[in-house]
Amino acid sequence: MTPLASWRPALARALHLNRALANARYFQLATVRADGRPANRTVVFRGFRLDTNQLMIISDRRAQKIAQLQQSPWAEICWYFPKTREQFRLSGRLSRIDQGNAELQHSDYCDFCQVWEKLSASAREQFYWPPPGQPHHESESPLAPPTDQEQPAENFTLLLFDPIEVDHLDLRSHPHVRHRYGCEAGQWSVEKLNP
Ligand SMILES: Cc1cc2nc3c(=O)[nH]c(=O)nc-3n(C[C@H](O)[C@H](O)[C@H](O)COP(=O)(O)O)c2cc1C
Repeated sequence: MTPLASWRPALARALHLNRALANARYFQLATVRADGRPANRTVVFRGFRLDTNQLMIISDRRAQKIAQLQQSPWAEICWYFPKTREQFRLSGRLSRIDQGNAELQHSDYCDFCQVWEKLSASAREQFYWPPPGQPHHESESPLAPPTDQEQPAENFTLLLFDPIEVDHLDLRSHPHVRHRYGCEAGQWSVEKLNP
């Protein structure tokens, strides 16, 4: 069991105080393209993986971000909480759990299935749509999702984001307050920075 990282209470507090805002559970996730350019997109926070500091995100196995993380696992999350005027920037590595992953542990597969089970029918259907990011053909219709959706779709992927650095900027006070959390050899430390 991984100890709770020292930045978790600040993030938990922001999530709690912003809970009435549905979009406070969206953040931007940047990855690195094969040519070194950044690629950024909005995703939904699916909670922390139990007993870890890993953030869970879901994706389609055919999406660009999956190919990008195979080239480079480095990624950055930028998360703004409008009600409390806080920004969290989390830097770390992404890994994935999906059915194409030959080294899947039993516990990985259980977590993967649990996230699938929590998805709404409309969220599940997207995994049967034509390949994301490819040219659209009017004649190409989405595959009918199977009536039994107990099994995760073949294209369903669970991404795990493992932070090594967290930059927390709080705009509520004047001057603003900024902290940087860093992880070395599994130990988190924090320092206060100029905003
Ligand atoms: C509000 C919002 C939430 C989104 N949530 C997700 C998500 O949880 N997972 C995901 O893969 N894409 C999500 N998307 C779509 C992505 O932003 C992006 O368009 C898609 O993942 C393809 O990105 P890629 O080709 O860079 O992989 C969301 C978009 C919006 C606007």
